Amino acid sequence: MSQRYPFPIPCGWFQVCRPDEVAVGTSRALFYFDRHLVAWRDEEGVLHVQDAFCPHLGAHLGHGGSVEGCELQCPFHGWRFDAEGTNVDIPYSTRTNKRARLRTFPVHEVNGKSMVWYHPDPDVAPRWDIPALDDLTSGEFFGPVYTDHTVQAHAQELGENAVDSAHFRYVHSVAEVPEITSYVTEGPVAEMKSIQKFPTPRGVVEGRIESTGYGPGYSVVRFAGIVDTLLVSSTTPIDGGSCQTRFDFYTRSLGDAETNSNVAKAFVAEVDRQFLEDMPIWEHKAHIARPALADTDGPFMAYRKWYHQFYDGVPGLDETPPVGHDGVFPPPYWPDKMDESPAKATASARHGGTA
Ligand code: FES
Ligand SMILES: [Fe+2]
Repeated sequence: MSQRYPFPIPCGWFQVCRPDEVAVGTSRALFYFDRHLVAWRDEEGVLHVQDAFCPHLGAHLGHGGSVEGCELQCPFHGWRFDAEGTNVDIPYSTRTNKRARLRTFPVHEVNGKSMVWYHPDPDVAPRWDIPALDDLTSGEFFGPVYTDHTVQAHAQELGENAVDSAHFRYVHSVAEVPEITSYVTEGPVAEMKSIQKFPTPRGVVEGRIESTGYGPGYSVVRFAGIVDTLLVSSTTPIDGGSCQTRFDFYTRSLGDAETNSNVAKAFVAEVDRQFLEDMPIWEHKAHIARPALADTDGPFMAYRKWYHQFYDGVPGLDETPPVGHDGVFPPPYWPDKMDESPAKATASARHGGTA
């Protein structure tokens, strides 16, 4: 099969679960970054994420591994590992096995998300932080309301959505294309400001959107204009060709609980509607290494250049596809997906097309 994407899984901070999904004293299985993982919370409340397979004989520690104090015990022969992944006990031996180590990922639980630092090289420490958001503890915001989706596309493709102003008219049928007023990157942080008109029951209202991405896996988007809304969003690679997004929505409290909840629901529905419209595009599109752009298209190449820093050590294939390659990276043949309607067909019909 041809290569799905010319880039690997990026490095960065990625959400692997919510804090309340791993209770104190429990473990669970996860799968991200193309690997099986175990998450467990020790008796002091600290979350740990490690490679799943016991180095003794390969049991999956997330399927029956038990948390004993601040250690994780394998369900197969009872070996125990500590928070650093060191084997600290073999119950039927007086010795431990120094070679038996679990790869351990740095964890940071912040803003309602359990984040893991992933880099293909285990010796590369986190290079930036995810700052805590004061707004979430101020009591001024209602939420969160959660949604999540699994998409058969690389996370880089999803992120490109934000800088692609033209698609909003065709895929999302918005009255006016959002205007990107600034796009600034500094190291792992990318900040974008735009103005977009939103339909509301009271007519079209002009909204301001400010989004700040901290690496490829996490961003905070602030919407102002209708009601102040905060979207804390994460995109986590499952493997090289799929990812999971999680949206946590918060709206500035408007007084009574019912109004808050109605506003939040309407907002979530709109963002989710747009996401579901994008999904078939992302899943069925090819990655075009050297896209033929219009002069008025958004800052695609600036976005890609920024994103490439997260492919440590991998040449920038976007600019230079392998010799003899046409630079087009299509999806696989998915017999089950042949009938899916690309959102474009619907948009084309809305705009006078025959599709
Ligand atoms: S496989 Fe884990 S203790 Fe044997
Ligand atoms: Fe979109």
